[in-house]
Amino acid sequence: MTTDYSSYNCDVLIIGGGAAGLTLALKMADKAKVTILSKSSLKLGSTYYAQGGIAAVLDAEDSELAHVEDTLAAGAGLCHRDIVEYTVGRARECIEWLIGQGVVFSKDPDNSSSTVMGNYHLTQEGGHRHRRVIHAADATGKAVFEVLAAKVLAHPNIRFITNSVAVDLLTSHKLGRPGNRCLGAYVLQEETGKVITIGARFTVLATGGASKVYLYTSNPDGACGDGIAMAWRAGCRVANMEFNQFHPTCLYHPLDRNFLISEALRGEGAVLRLPDGTRFMPGYHELAELAPRDIVARAIDAEMKKTGCDCVYLDISHKPAEFIKAHFPTIYARCLSLGIDICKQPIPVVPAAHYSCGGVVVDRNGKTDVDHLYAIGETSFTGLHGANRMASNSLLECFVFAFSASEHITSKLADTELPLDLPKWDESQVTDSDEDIVIAHNWDEIRRFMWDYVGIVRTTKRLHRAQHRINLLRNEIQDYYSNYRISAPLLELRNLAMVAELIIASALSRHESRGLHFCLDYPEKSAHPRDTFLKPEHFVHS
Ligand code: FAD
Ligand code: SIN
Repeated sequence: MTTDYSSYNCDVLIIGGGAAGLTLALKMADKAKVTILSKSSLKLGSTYYAQGGIAAVLDAEDSELAHVEDTLAAGAGLCHRDIVEYTVGRARECIEWLIGQGVVFSKDPDNSSSTVMGNYHLTQEGGHRHRRVIHAADATGKAVFEVLAAKVLAHPNIRFITNSVAVDLLTSHKLGRPGNRCLGAYVLQEETGKVITIGARFTVLATGGASKVYLYTSNPDGACGDGIAMAWRAGCRVANMEFNQFHPTCLYHPLDRNFLISEALRGEGAVLRLPDGTRFMPGYHELAELAPRDIVARAIDAEMKKTGCDCVYLDISHKPAEFIKAHFPTIYARCLSLGIDICKQPIPVVPAAHYSCGGVVVDRNGKTDVDHLYAIGETSFTGLHGANRMASNSLLECFVFAFSASEHITSKLADTELPLDLPKWDESQVTDSDEDIVIAHNWDEIRRFMWDYVGIVRTTKRLHRAQHRINLLRNEIQDYYSNYRISAPLLELRNLAMVAELIIASALSRHESRGLHFCLDYPEKSAHPRDTFLKPEHFVHS
């Protein structure tokens, strides 16, 4: 639905309609008037495309301690143990809630496993030393999204506005009022080109990640880091932006370079091979193909550079065809449509940017540094993932922090005034752009140099080269933003450039190699692990 009013107020404004935003909307809706926004179509976030599943301790043989320890090991020394324990401790409650909402998870076809909640099938993924990933075949995100979105759309207290791009947050600081409280947001209506003002007692960023900053990514088009950039401009700290995760296995095909081949294939026995059929992961890690993602992605990168091959191969063809088709129907069908029968042939794969481990700094309630502003889901930095996120902990984080944010906001709702007298968007000084090609070129340039210079293996020289480029582009983009009427592509470009700048600055400040950040000039791990916090007031453009 699209609005035709120029301003209005609500209790809770949620920017983003993925797993995090939808869950929070449903949790708040009986206590508050909620508005939830999404860019373009409903399916522009990552949630819809999630494959493998959601990590939770549901098997009597497994333990929360084991889930905590696996997460800490994957995170390479930077996870915040208290947050890991908190998240793991709420996992079962989240899964029960999802089932209660109507999400249908896969049952064990052989009836051989019995979880504490019935005979759900649990799969395994990288870093997990136990089967603990509950899933809906290989399309878990779709199963979750469709159920939650339908409930949100039907709820009388929730207004779901699609085709709406949040431009920037309104804060008391920006308006010259006392303190720094978030008051709502300016929102561009994509269909009319008009910007409306939405005032809110509480504003929540649930805008997903920023992997679109890289040329090759598993993410859909909306993943431009909008929430991170808006929070930064509003005065929030961001942390650990250098840890952008590369998923080891995206399909390598000229007609489809965005399609993920789930880690669950490796969990069910698939192996990685070079073009000549040689298996190489056992030489890199004791867990071989089930090593944490940073290790597998780097091993593939190293083998591709060593042998000069364009891709490696993921082979599950030794498993019975019925098993493959039952567990991985989406992947089977997509590959078959491109002429690859995964029951008979290995799948050509390459690593691609997949997940932003860093983001807007929040506490365990999802609260940011700015009053009345929260961030949940992939856009946030909670301390859960450390230097490398473990598979299927991301959806879990979306649900857990949506729960805790809803509890915190609920406890503050009655004492919080609605913001008054918010200014309308002023476009009296701008004109229509006659050079939209500049936006497309700049966008393409950023994504290419980020891939080439700030990718899986980094050097200080390449990072400086990237920094030089982004400095030149920043001024050009700012000039464009100030003089021309805004559009969704321009807003995304502006945010993408901001996020690229934060990633490069964070990477340059880390003088070691750890988890997802591997720099040839500092190949060792420092004895003193630390997070990279960036503060807007200390950030000096070089
Ligand atoms: P998203 O689902 O990305 O949603 C973001 C929302 O914000 C969208 O509605 C978007 O339109 C909106 N938005 C963004 N910017 C703006 C703006 N400026 N104004 C208005 N709206 C805006 N994780 C797992 O745990 N398990 C998995 O199996 C798994 N598989 C994955 C497979 C793929 C292919 C991908 C890409 C990711 C996968 N992940 C998985 C990661 C996980 O899916 C994401 O981290 C998670 O879904 C993020 O949810 P979110 O709610 O934070 O954001
Ligand atoms: C996958 O299915 O491989 C993705 C899982 C994740 O990103 O957690």
